[in-house]
Amino acid sequence: MSVSVTALTPTFGAEIMGVDLTRPLDAGIGDLIVDAMDRYAVTVIRGVTVSQDDQIAFAKNFGPLDAINGVLQTDIKRRVSTELVDISNMDEDSNILELDDRRRLFNLGNRLWHTDSSFKRIAAKYSMLHAHAVPPIAGETQVCDLRAAYDDLPAYMKGQIEDLVAVHSIFTSRALLGFDNFSQEEHHLLPPIRRPMVRVHPGSGRKTLYLASHIGRILDRPVAEGRLLVRDLIEHATQPQYIYTHHWRIGDTLIWDNRCTMHRAMPFDESRFKRDMRRATVMETDAAPVDDQAAVATA
Ligand code: OGA
Ligand code: MN
Repeated sequence: MSVSVTALTPTFGAEIMGVDLTRPLDAGIGDLIVDAMDRYAVTVIRGVTVSQDDQIAFAKNFGPLDAINGVLQTDIKRRVSTELVDISNMDEDSNILELDDRRRLFNLGNRLWHTDSSFKRIAAKYSMLHAHAVPPIAGETQVCDLRAAYDDLPAYMKGQIEDLVAVHSIFTSRALLGFDNFSQEEHHLLPPIRRPMVRVHPGSGRKTLYLASHIGRILDRPVAEGRLLVRDLIEHATQPQYIYTHHWRIGDTLIWDNRCTMHRAMPFDESRFKRDMRRATVMETDAAPVDDQAAVATA
């Protein structure tokens, strides 16, 4: 079967057809997917539900996966493979999580605009979210285009933010929702990480904002000023013209490039419906946090 790419807009969002996620990728198809990702930043492969092993094998064509998934180092039994992130409202027995379950409260952070794992030393490159169960209404995923949002900024703003460095932490985004139930060990595992606010997207050479609700401050700026700037930029970048909204069907795989997009989960009736998504996360192994850039440059 031949593979084709249908653009949803000229520069953002595409559907890739003809890829069988249950079989090893033919030579050339991986490159074609990377090209589509570089150009459109978010793509969807619709099809049939794939097993965890198939999802993991497919994702590994694009690089190593993030093995330390989530931050919840608890003794709770996992529902999905350790190589995937459990993006669901279900427990290990497939029951809907209680309203006050720690996993649910933690996952509510996904409703804030963010990019995956910017708070880890090695951030996420591609996130590949696969749907096993979807609510009959709502529960969409939205993805926004940070390259177009950058392009449209006024020149004075581009100048102001060019060299800024932001400090990312998972505890910042969770604290925004009043969730601060983290252990010392979790704090120790995930110290704040510095990243540029503006970067060149490696696959396209285009400049992009790099934003997330994980940002708590801007280096060398008063905290309040940094936070206001981040709020303003997120508000700008999440205007309707920059957003793709994915309406889920079972068997969809949505792939977004975390280096030039943000995304968020939309609400649904969690008390009635199960939403079972599993994420394979390809790491961005070739970009270091700001502290390490000198080390990379001389390596
Ligand atoms: C994620 C995420 C959003 C959603 O998988 O990283 O933020 O709609 N998901 O579930
Ligand atoms: Mn996410």
